[in-house]
Parts: sequence; structure tokens; C-alpha cells
Amino acid sequence: MHDHWIARRMRSIEVSGIRKVFDLARSLNNPVDLSIGMPHFDMPEEAKRAAVAALERGDNVYTVTQGIPELRAKIQADVRQRFPQPDRDILITSGTSGGLVLALLSTIDPGDEVIVLDPYFVMYPHFITVAGGVSVVVDSYPDFRIDVNKVEAAVTPRTKAIIVNSPANPTGAVHDRRTLEDLARLAQRRGVLLISDEVYRAFCYDGPFASAAEFNDDVVVLDGFSKSYAMTGWRLGYCHGPKRLIEEMTKLQQFTFVCAPSVAQHAGVAAWEVDMSAVVADHRRRRDRLYDGLKDRYEIVKPGGAFYMFPKVPAGTGQEFVAEAIRNNLLCIPGGAFSRRDTHFRLSFAAGDEMLDRGIDILNHLAKR
Ligand SMILES: Cc1ncc(COP(=O)(O)O)c(C=O)c1O
Repeated sequence: MHDHWIARRMRSIEVSGIRKVFDLARSLNNPVDLSIGMPHFDMPEEAKRAAVAALERGDNVYTVTQGIPELRAKIQADVRQRFPQPDRDILITSGTSGGLVLALLSTIDPGDEVIVLDPYFVMYPHFITVAGGVSVVVDSYPDFRIDVNKVEAAVTPRTKAIIVNSPANPTGAVHDRRTLEDLARLAQRRGVLLISDEVYRAFCYDGPFASAAEFNDDVVVLDGFSKSYAMTGWRLGYCHGPKRLIEEMTKLQQFTFVCAPSVAQHAGVAAWEVDMSAVVADHRRRRDRLYDGLKDRYEIVKPGGAFYMFPKVPAGTGQEFVAEAIRNNLLCIPGGAFSRRDTHFRLSFAAGDEMLDRGIDILNHLAKR
């Protein structure tokens, strides 16, 4: 084939640093794997049974683009109760990622700037590029808090959107209500769209979850079932936001994803009713186990949510540190995969106790050297 068949936009997208670690993982024997971005539990039995019933019933065909009425009704009731805004509409999407794709493609014109906090979820800058936009990164080191003044200073006449993610991947930071309010008001004042990625909403350990959409009716929220119900493979998500924007995203979904997977939507109806609080409490315990095991030898901001922590490497770069960790049979992700800096590394505590303890031993051994 001809090299020029590949679009220019693909040349600025590198294979994810996470994928590289997964490839390396295959060469290790029983590695300690703290690289995983999936909850440490199986999806609810009720959801599995609902999926089996749906496929046996023959619900294996396209659904309406906006999502099946049963699932929409449940999500809409929750959204209406949390955000009593008359103009807020919802769309069922193919994962939170699908929602992000639709939101960016529906709003970003070539040359538009999108502000992202660094460290960021890997997909943001790459998909901003695909959409023709330009990422403007605002550094949030060393405590991973959002400095709203710094965000405001990054706003230019070309700024179209700001992406906020709380609880955050890869830092586990949960932004407090006051910061989110300030950010939401800044977006409103400057006429900028605020995109709030809330896929880790269920995993808040030290206080209740707050959403920027509580303070600004125009915030578009991306959410999904991958993390809350351990359904990463089912590709089920949803978004809510101003009706006009949701209409555009629905139009685009019609000609791209068509609809979220039908069986997954039926599984989602059952999953929605399941109480996941015990699972969240269990992840809080794992967070404490890993943090307490490492805090004496590593500089770590204790994460308030999600299932990640983002310690500083004791010496060298994140990539050098992770290469050494892998030589010691431990898998984790270099911070450079999520940042313009490569000074940290990401650990996931969505792992069994024995795995966490083995990881703590290896990491403490590496820090001593
Ligand atoms: C911050 C963030 N947003 C979105 C996603 C994508 O989630 P989904 O599986 O729902 O597409 C992830 C997955 O790791 C994530 O960490």
C-alpha cells in the first residue's frame, strides 16, 4: 500500500503508552499487574441475566439512535433529579469514549483550542487532534488541583472548550465543589463549552461527588457503565447536556455508531438498579492499602477517587522507572503517557490484596536503590 493513504491526522497520534505496557506484559510470567484501568470485580449477575434474556428474546438488532426507552427513562430520572434544568437532554452512547467522540466532533472546528488539565486521560489530546482542534494544556502539578486562574489565563478568543475529569485518570484527584463551581462559572462567563468526564463518579472515597453541571446548565457530561458496573467490554455510556448540542450529537451518532450495542443497553437497565456501594468501599480499602504501603518511600498525593495513584518517580524519568519496574516483574504506566512531563508513574489499585502487597514490596525495593 501507499504511505500517503494514511491521513496526516494519524501521524500525530502515537500508540498509547498503555498499549506498549500491555504488549510487554505478554512476555512476563505471572507479573504484578498494577496497570489495569478496570474495576476489580465482575459485572452484576442481574445485568448478565438481563443480557442473556435480551439476546434470547431477539433484541439483537439496531435500537433507536438515542437509546432504548427503558434505559433512557432510568437515566433521565436520575439526571432530572440531580440537575433540575428544563433544557437538559440525554443520549445513550457507545461507551464514555463514544460520547467524547461525538461531543468533540460536534463542537470543534479546525483551529479551535481545547483546554485540558495536565495530567490528562490519554484520549483527550489525541481526539482533539482528530477533531482538528488544538490542545492547550494547563499544568496541575504538583498537587493535581485545578488552578482556575491558570485556566482563565489560558482562555483565548479561539478557546472552544475545556475538559474536566473528576475523579480523574491518572491521578485519582477529586476536584472539590468550590473549584468545580468556579470553573463552571468561568466557562459561562467566557462563553466556552465545559465538557465534564464523570466516568469515575461512583468512586469517590472521602466525600460526596460534585459535578460542574450543577453550576452551569450548558455543561455537557460524559458518563458510562464501564467503571461503575465493571462493564468495560460492553461499550455502554451516556451523556447529558443542553438539548441543542445533544441533538447534534444524536445526528452524528446516527451516521457513525448508529446506536449503543442493543444487548448492552438491556444489561444496563438491570445494572442501573444494583447497589454498588460495597464495591466502592472495597476499592477505598485497596486505595488505603496501596497508599499506606508506599507513602514513606514515595511522594504521592493521596487519591480521593477513581482507582489510580500517580506517585513521583524517585529518580530519572517515568519511562526509565517503568522499564526497571518491568524488569522486576511489575507493570505500571509511565506518567509521560498522560502528560507533557515524564516525572511520575500511574498505579492502579483495582487489583487483589496479594497483587497489591507484591507490588508494594517491589516498589519499595526499587525506591531503596
Ligand atoms: C477518564 C476516562 N474517560 C473515559 C474513559 C472511557 O470509558 P469507556 O469505557 O466508557 O469508553 C476512560 C477509560 O479508561 C477514562 O479513564
